[in-house]
This record gives sequence, C-alpha cells and structure tokens, in this order.
Amino acid sequence: MKVLLVNGGPHQDGCTNLALEEVAKTLENENIETEIIWLGNKAISGCIGCNSCLKNDNHCFVNDEVNSFIEKAKKADGFVFGSPVHFAAASGALTSFLDRVFYGRGKLFAGKACASVVSCRRGGATAAFDQINKYALISNMYLIGSSYWNQIHGSNKEEAAKDLEGLQTMRNLGKNMAFLLKSIQKANLERPELEMGIKTNFIR
Ligand SMILES: Cc1cc2nc3c(=O)[nH]c(=O)nc-3n(C[C@H](O)[C@H](O)[C@H](O)COP(=O)(O)O)c2cc1C
Repeated sequence: MKVLLVNGGPHQDGCTNLALEEVAKTLENENIETEIIWLGNKAISGCIGCNSCLKNDNHCFVNDEVNSFIEKAKKADGFVFGSPVHFAAASGALTSFLDRVFYGRGKLFAGKACASVVSCRRGGATAAFDQINKYALISNMYLIGSSYWNQIHGSNKEEAAKDLEGLQTMRNLGKNMAFLLKSIQKANLERPELEMGIKTNFIR
C-alpha cells in the first residue's frame, strides 16, 4: 500500500513538510510506503475549464506536476494534501494543483483515503483545512481526521517543531489512515457501485 503526500507550500523543508514527515514516518512504521511530493516554486496554472482532459485520456494539456501526479495517483491507496495557510486559505499553488487534479477524475480517487494538513503562524487554519477537505468530499473518498484538526503552528520549521500537540495530531492522523487502509485491505470487500449518471444544473 502506498500513500502520496503533497507539500503545496513554497518551502521544501518548511512547516508543512515537517507535518507531512510526521504523518509519513507513522505510516512507514505501519509498513505503508510513502512519498512526499513538493510542488516546487514554479507557477502552477489554474484550470481553464477547457475540458480537454475529459477527452485526452484524462491528462491536462498543460504538462506539469499535475500529469505526473495523476500517473502516480493511479497506483496510490491514500493521499495527504498539505498547505501553509495563505490569507486564511490554502496556498495558490495547491489550489491550482488540486483544481486541475480533481476536475473530472472522480473514478481515480473514489474509495481511496484522503487527509488534509495545514500549517500556519496564527490563524485561518480551519478555513484552509475545510477548503482542502472539500476535494475529497466530492470525490467519494474516505476523509481521515485526528485528535485535533490536522494543523501545526509556526513561522518556520524550528517553531513548528515546538508545536508538540500539532505533531501528536499528525502521528494520530497517520495511525488512523494506516488503520483504515489495512481494514479495507483485510475486509477485501467490493467497493460500492456508485450512481454517477444524474447531473442537474438547475436549468428550467
Ligand atoms: C502569502 C502568505 C500569507 C500568509 N497568511 C497567513 C495567514 O493567513 N495566517 C497565518 O497564521 N499565517 C499566514 N502565513 C504564514 C504561514 O502560513 C506559516 O508561516 C506557515 O507555517 C509556513 O509554512 P511553510 O514553511 O510550509 O511555507 C502566511 C504566509 C505567507 C507567505
């Protein structure tokens, strides 16, 4: 089993990464493979709604981190999307990335585990957390919580390392995700056959 963890912040080795590493370490201790993917500092364009991905074997015409992630996501069992809080929201990079990753890809993510992690200096954590969670909640995923909302506090990695409750929250998140993934594997049940056909746009 494998979990992909995405760092959507501008710092490869910052607060968000610290939180993701704590989740990853816990998953690894539970014999679950992990990979942390940093989105980098190059601009990630938003979705332009051209719908070409719906025809083009599910690939975006902008060939960047989004397409390489989609390939990896096909083989992954779980996901953790991490972001620093920027103005009480997820980072622009992660928002653009997730808009393009999730658009029209319900089948790729359905039945898989997902969690969000946010880091902030002081405020806006739950607003950003709610924002990121919404991608999973519209994609038939199993969203994982912890002993507190999945957040860590600090302006830099050294400060975040002192947020002992934040780190504990990340470890418990890892344990909860490992439990769910192992339970799904052990139960070996058929996934529910979901109804997908109806789309009403409220046009009279
Ligand atoms: C553009 C920008 C906006 C920010 N907005 C907030 C904010 O609304 N609330 C907050 O507490 N911290 C805010 N911060 C601070 C970061 O969220 C915080 O330092 C975070 O832990 C950094 O994570 P990173 O090291 O992974 O980038 C902001 C930082 C930047 C660069």
